[in-house]
Amino acid sequence: MKLKQFLPRSLLGRSLLILITPVILIQVVATYMFFTRHWDVMTERLALAVAGEVALFADSVERGASQKELQRMANDMARFLDLEVTYQDGKVLENVTRHHRDWGSVVAQTLSYAIQKRVQKPYDIQTDVGGKFVKISLQLTDGVLEVISPQNRLFSASARIYILWVIGSSAFLLLIAVLFMRNQIRPIRRLAIAAEKLGKGRDVPFFKPEGAQEVRAAAQAFIDMRARIDRQIQQRTSMLAGVSHDLRTPLTRMKLQAELMGNSPDVQDLKSDIADMERMISAYLDFVRGQGDEEPQRTALEPLLTRLVASAGREGGAVTLDIRDDDISLMVRPIALERALVNLIGNAAKYAPQSRVTVTREEDGVRLIFDDNGPGIPPALRDDVFKPFFRVETSRNPQTGGVGLGLPIAQDIIHAHGGTIDLGDSPMGGLRINVFLPA
Ligand SMILES: Nc1ncnc2c1ncn2[C@@H]1O[C@H](COP(=O)(O)OP(=O)(O)OP(=O)(O)O)[C@@H](O)[C@H]1O
Ligand SMILES: [Mg+2]
Repeated sequence: MKLKQFLPRSLLGRSLLILITPVILIQVVATYMFFTRHWDVMTERLALAVAGEVALFADSVERGASQKELQRMANDMARFLDLEVTYQDGKVLENVTRHHRDWGSVVAQTLSYAIQKRVQKPYDIQTDVGGKFVKISLQLTDGVLEVISPQNRLFSASARIYILWVIGSSAFLLLIAVLFMRNQIRPIRRLAIAAEKLGKGRDVPFFKPEGAQEVRAAAQAFIDMRARIDRQIQQRTSMLAGVSHDLRTPLTRMKLQAELMGNSPDVQDLKSDIADMERMISAYLDFVRGQGDEEPQRTALEPLLTRLVASAGREGGAVTLDIRDDDISLMVRPIALERALVNLIGNAAKYAPQSRVTVTREEDGVRLIFDDNGPGIPPALRDDVFKPFFRVETSRNPQTGGVGLGLPIAQDIIHAHGGTIDLGDSPMGGLRINVFLPA
């Protein structure tokens, strides 16, 4: 068991803990000090004062003061000290309390202590007389002295009010802290969401940097970074588009000229080179189109894959589709994703007699597994095939392979969607391509 497990995980929780813990500690210490140092001392002094006045009267009784004198004294005590005093001659106290155990109240204990200190006679204390009074009975030599004192002569209500203040102000402070911290944390949360979206290649709506200086700086850095990435993608795409487009015109001219040059073996070679170049250029343009300004949208995978598998089957190897869950759909750029899937399924159909596409929904995305029973790719070359123009079969024979752009383009697109693509060995004997696309 580590302490960490019990600590809050969110920034809001943590900052509140940091803020509130010292406050509560201070208040606990202050409350403790208040009760031991202030309130207890106060209560003791009040009890001693009342006990002293009772002792004064008891002393007069014991010294044999006349009935008249005692009456006058009782009147004075009622008038000036709020104490109601009665003396019953010849009476004997029934309940004598020496040690109060069951009272539990600090006031009663303190009063008990004060009477023992001032009077040293058998006594009894009732704390709840008529709701607001305390009755003290003293056994004197010839009778019983009863004193009724208002409770507020013995303790002050400030303790209860103090506790209310402590709890109330803590709650108020907590409320304010929650409100303020929430405002501070909102921009951080928004930044995290934006960064995650950008990582998945989704559209990031513009947001204004807000909050504390550091958070604002981070948000601004993120916005700048996004602009830079956008610019770079834009530059790369438009350069590729420009080059491909510009090459097309002279290539078409060359093609026409080659047609006019007859059919000698040399011209045949030239024509096949030109055809290669055309294919490369159209691959570039496809790539550019896929990476363009396409907006992500929710796309159902089943119809898309069914269509791609059917058209790949016409090219060569048999491709089967195995969709394990219903209604799988994803936020993707549909044309780009189709381009990536066409490349993967096309490779399988081209390089293997049989292949299978398996689709499963996972907790946070979709997994697509492409298995085939072709020659596979040796582990040492699995990194290289993602490099543009790399082909395992190096002859560059158009019959046995393509340009070598299929896998790099697929990888590019999948990464741009925040996904992953890995090559491995298939249980079918050939290549397994494992693709994950986040939801
Ligand atoms: N399913 C597969 N089985 C065996 N080898 C494969 C498979 N897929 C790709 N390869 C190898 O990886 C190389 C690179 O594939 P990639 O798709 O990038 O290019 P390509 O298929 O040659 O050309 P294209 O640009 O027309 O797709 C291929 O030339 C091939 O040797
Ligand atoms: Mg290919």
